[in-house]
Amino acid sequence: MGEQIFQRRRAELVNQIGAGDIVIVPTSPVKSRNGDVEYRFRPDSDFFYLTGFEEPQSVAVICPGRDQGEYVIFCREKDALREMWDGRRAGLEGAVCDYAAADAFPIEDIGDILPGMMEQREKVYTTVGRYPEFDAQVLGWLTKIKQDTRSGKHAPYELVDLSHLLHEQRLIKRKDEITLMRKAARMSAAGHARAMQVCQPGMYEYQVQAEMECEFRKAGSHYNAYPSIVAGGENACILHYTENNRVLQSGDLLLIDAGAEYEYYAADISRTFPVNGKFSAEQKALYQIVLAAQNAAIEKCSVGHGWDEPHKAAIEVISQGLLDEKLLRGTLEEVLETESYTRFYMHRTGHWLGMDVHDVGDYQVDETWRELEPGMVFTVEPGIYVAPGEGIDARWNNIGIRIEDNVLVKKDGVEVLTEAAPKEIDQIEALMAG
Ligand code: GLY
Ligand code: MN
Ligand code: MN
Repeated sequence: MGEQIFQRRRAELVNQIGAGDIVIVPTSPVKSRNGDVEYRFRPDSDFFYLTGFEEPQSVAVICPGRDQGEYVIFCREKDALREMWDGRRAGLEGAVCDYAAADAFPIEDIGDILPGMMEQREKVYTTVGRYPEFDAQVLGWLTKIKQDTRSGKHAPYELVDLSHLLHEQRLIKRKDEITLMRKAARMSAAGHARAMQVCQPGMYEYQVQAEMECEFRKAGSHYNAYPSIVAGGENACILHYTENNRVLQSGDLLLIDAGAEYEYYAADISRTFPVNGKFSAEQKALYQIVLAAQNAAIEKCSVGHGWDEPHKAAIEVISQGLLDEKLLRGTLEEVLETESYTRFYMHRTGHWLGMDVHDVGDYQVDETWRELEPGMVFTVEPGIYVAPGEGIDARWNNIGIRIEDNVLVKKDGVEVLTEAAPKEIDQIEALMAG
């Protein structure tokens, strides 16, 4: 992504704050996995969104009107020995030349330099609550400035959570972001199709996972957007199953919920298909209900519909379908009123999608579900999960189905970004037979 994209994002944020305020955004901390091993570092989404800077131990500061330039990065200095062991660093010069910072300072010196930049400012915007250790540092700097007010220093009087402003900005995806999300969606769809092609009874769940993720990698994704859920048979009724270590059985369904991350943008696709390539009558019956629910929900994803409308459309179709199959009793009104459908459909139908798989942005404004607007991207993911239990005919046991696509709201309609992942029964059976 070009530097001007990050520049535009910073300018958009600056337009929303006061000329006397300051924004301080840290990246994520590095986390230990075990022994001398760390988890792979992934920049904080807010930090990357504003900077394009991928290195750990970095803090971005935007200080409108600062004489020496308003955008400052604190980062690691160049260090030949450390770079030989751990990898390249932009260094202070790189932060200025390649990332458009007006100034860059060593991260070790932040406690000496940043309080001076905070003095005389009014509001301090930061990621309050996300990284408690960093919050404590910011409070420490504020306290230090307050202690010095007798010598004429003016301490900021408000500490404000940056989320509200920045997350509203991130909620509406721009053209450059949509291009990346289309790519993430397309490569993820190809991975799901690959999983259908290779799946055989007797394979382990993680082996199907490897084939799918290989497709993500070959298409240019370095990492997944979240840990893949590859759940055969009864495991499909565990919504966030990630052990992926069981053998797949003929006669079972396989539910895969997985998406590639591409240039820090996520896809989030679920597909469900029969391990042996052929849906049983019961699997087919419930699958068709979920698919119809998803289609009804997608009908409600255009501009002007309320956030809740796709969910309402999905639960109506699912409830009626479960009544028709005698998995639920009563009238449709009773099922909706008592929410008895939640025995089989216990999650919501979607969430915002972007740099984070459960992306940022409010779902309600003034306690009302917000209206859909062009540039919003979200998932539509109804499901039915039948765990064995009282009153359930055993022929339905352990059928777990989720069908999840990613949609983009456009001025004149809806684009299903993930439509290349097969989901019609005929399509899936033909692909698996081939
Ligand atoms: N992959 C998690 C979700 O679908 O929300
Ligand atoms: Mn999802
Ligand atoms: Mn998902």
